[in-house]
Amino acid sequence: MTDNLMEKIVSLAKRRGFIFQSSEAYGGLSNTWDYGPFGVELKNNLKAAWWKANVYERNDILGMDAAILMHPEVWRASGHVDNFFDLKSDCKTCKKRFKTADLKDNKKCPQCGGELTEGRPFNLMFKTYQGPVEDAANIVYLRPETAQGMFVNFTNILDARHPKLPFGLAQIGKAFRNEITPGNFTFRTREFEQMEIEYFVRPEEADKNLEEWIKTRFDWYINLGIKTENLRKRPHGKEELAHYASACTDIEYNFPFGWSELEGIANRTDFDLKQHAKQSGKDFQYFDDAAKQRFYPYIIEPSGGVDRSVLAFLVDAYHEEKVKDDIRVVLKLHRDLAPTKVAVLPLLRNRPEIVELAQKICGELKKNMVTVYDDTGSIGKLYRRQDEVGTLFCVTVDVQSMEDKQVTVRERDSMQQERISVDKVKDYLSEKINK
Ligand code: GAP
Repeated sequence: MTDNLMEKIVSLAKRRGFIFQSSEAYGGLSNTWDYGPFGVELKNNLKAAWWKANVYERNDILGMDAAILMHPEVWRASGHVDNFFDLKSDCKTCKKRFKTADLKDNKKCPQCGGELTEGRPFNLMFKTYQGPVEDAANIVYLRPETAQGMFVNFTNILDARHPKLPFGLAQIGKAFRNEITPGNFTFRTREFEQMEIEYFVRPEEADKNLEEWIKTRFDWYINLGIKTENLRKRPHGKEELAHYASACTDIEYNFPFGWSELEGIANRTDFDLKQHAKQSGKDFQYFDDAAKQRFYPYIIEPSGGVDRSVLAFLVDAYHEEKVKDDIRVVLKLHRDLAPTKVAVLPLLRNRPEIVELAQKICGELKKNMVTVYDDTGSIGKLYRRQDEVGTLFCVTVDVQSMEDKQVTVRERDSMQQERISVDKVKDYLSEKINK
């Protein structure tokens, strides 16, 4: 089943409308992807689950949505102008470009054997111009992380909401990096979405909070259905820490292309707040009313990728099962993530009374849960189609339904079927889906 798993995921994603190559009609823009009807639902469900767990179900985290474009001084203060680069090496013969850190031999091109240039720094931030004049004074950057929008609003949040330490800010939004070697489908792209928490703590409590967040974030993936054996924690060695971090642990997923980072949980110390205070001349300290003390809190940052998580959940949910002489492909996505909760299927589409009842049931269910209607194939085909996109339940209306006012409800993973009366089906499904 795991043979060519990545190819199978990419193919299913396109065929069933999860993820398409961007600008495909023009030959595609490399490593850029568009989310189709099922993809956007899966992505929205994932973001909603993250927001619910981190903002709604806690008392100590507030939501935010900062602009993508920020004052260019933000990126000077944060260290991204000076430190956010990779070394790149170019082949003098075939002109291909490599990330120097990925090369086994940094003298010889791995493609053609040609001579490589010395590793040269390449800043990963996308630059553009604000306003009609394209000169240095008008340069702005597309943010490479959402985090800075939360740091620079630290005092606004203190003034508006008066939170007490420890407290956090949470944000989901696009980030951009001009990666030298994007790839592995949506795993590494130049435009992507992050889900970030900046958790402000007393410096002496930072280590304890870091450990707590590593556990909390690990458990979040497991509770949403990722198999335990496919998830691990990997502490960073000192040499791989970002310029702002004193410690970091990655949560890694066992992708078909190997263990790779899903999320990083870092101790950013007081680096960012101090830097912004220095660069802006404004006060970025916290005032402790009881102790009458001003100080810079430390920041614990769980920072995850939306697109990487979507990919991990797709890979983890993909199953092939032998059913009689057939192979059933089923996405066993968690009920909160499944793009469609219910499909209503009339067994015979040439019987108006069956179609009418099926459409009526569908209309009713739609008010409470994402429900689709499909009558464009035989029942076997319709079930397979729904299995492939992870629909939780199929409701079938048949000839018998006209007499006993009951429908067949089929559960995705077990394929078990139950007869449920038409007037109870909505409550029955609501209970199963929202439990
Ligand atoms: N604010 C901290 C920060 O940005 P990071 O480890 O560079 O830390 C956090 O990024 C997360 O963002 C990663 O764990 C990953 O999920 C996601 N991410 C980073 N670069 C990405 C890329 N090029 N494509 C897709 N996701 C990316």
